[in-house]
Amino acid sequence: MNSFVFYNPTKIYFGSDKYGFIAKEIPKNSKVLLIFGGGSIKNNGVYDRVIKSLSGFEVVEFGGVHPNPTYEYLYDAIRLCKTESIDFILAVGGGSVVDASKFVAAATFYDGDPWDLLKKKSVVERSLPIGVVLTLPATGSEMNAGAVVTKEETQEKLGFFSIHSFPKFSILDPQATFSLPYQQRANGISDAFIHILEQYLTYSVGASVQDRLAEGLLSTLIDQGPRTLENPEDYTACANIMWASTLALNGLIGCGVPQDWTTHILGHELTAKFGISHAESLTSLIIHVWKERFEEKKEKLAQYAIYVWGFQANDLDSNAKQAIDKTRLFFQSLSMKTDTSHLNMSMTDIDNIVRRLEQRKSFPLGEKKTVDKDLCRKILISSRNI
Ligand code: NZQ
Ligand code: ZN
Repeated sequence: MNSFVFYNPTKIYFGSDKYGFIAKEIPKNSKVLLIFGGGSIKNNGVYDRVIKSLSGFEVVEFGGVHPNPTYEYLYDAIRLCKTESIDFILAVGGGSVVDASKFVAAATFYDGDPWDLLKKKSVVERSLPIGVVLTLPATGSEMNAGAVVTKEETQEKLGFFSIHSFPKFSILDPQATFSLPYQQRANGISDAFIHILEQYLTYSVGASVQDRLAEGLLSTLIDQGPRTLENPEDYTACANIMWASTLALNGLIGCGVPQDWTTHILGHELTAKFGISHAESLTSLIIHVWKERFEEKKEKLAQYAIYVWGFQANDLDSNAKQAIDKTRLFFQSLSMKTDTSHLNMSMTDIDNIVRRLEQRKSFPLGEKKTVDKDLCRKILISSRNI
């Protein structure tokens, strides 16, 4: 196991009766900016519960945050924080709303162009405090220090991390997820699944604790995910999916192990270029990342075949191939795409993606830094399934 430092200060309130803690966690007399998305929270009762819990506070609202939030849209929220002297941001929604809130919170105290926080990786020195009421289990943003924002003008989707961006608290109410449409639910399960794989499916460093945790979370998503799809109001299944998704990317399973993130980095390019959902960008690619890097990945793929999919230990190569097949079938059972054939991605598109990553000095990618521009091109070509 590699050496590590683990720090995660976010307080979690888990369950259906936790909204009352919002008022206890936000400092008295704070002026609160309530950030939310396109309206789902007004249809499922979450907005009313949050507003009730904020009755003692002065509240300013900023709604309409889209999936894959844009810098352009959030600019007004940053201005609002300054002109209204906001003290605290409450994010109510999915990962896009939480990420948007983290960005606005950090940008409020940044003197230059806020896009520098992403593009130039400028250091976040200070941020407004944020709290979260989560309505979509997927990203782990409710308990991590990262955020991803898109610049529409240049079709760039970039992330930033800061120790100041951890939410102070997050309310995780499984009932708030009952209203999720099938595809959003499937997207969330797939995104969380791939977060675990990006941290687990690398090479062994003898970290049995992290491996067994990762395998347990993967098995939970495989078992409980379809239950939530069949019965969206199955509280127990929804609770398991919610907690598994949070644990998938709150830093715990990534401690002391190599991490990959190739699929995410390429996936962000597909979302920026083709406008597809974050989860679809990942499920369209990961199988092809594995196929093109089979030799590097096969030992861990075989381990995953045995511990997660229940195969008997057999020939290493055949176990590894079975794991790839099983993963593809699992995503397809959730109605997710497992290639990019539907995008009509041209060779020019592929060249542009590679050039962009090169300009950003993103290469080499992967846990062993073996994904150079040629391998990246191969992965994208393979994903077209032509
Ligand atoms: O906007 P509203 O009306 O709220 O509708 C949303 C949105 O249309 C809807 N929704 C959310 N909760 C609902 C609901 N509909 C009915 N009932 C509910 N309870 O779902 C749609 C998608 O929401 P969004 O927040 O975009 O989804 P998700 O949570 O998957 O977030 C995706 C964003 O997070 C980023 C992605 O890149 C993407 O921009 N990520 C953030 C990460 C992080 N901060 O650590 C890591 C991830 O890898 C990811 O990159
Ligand atoms: Zn993700």
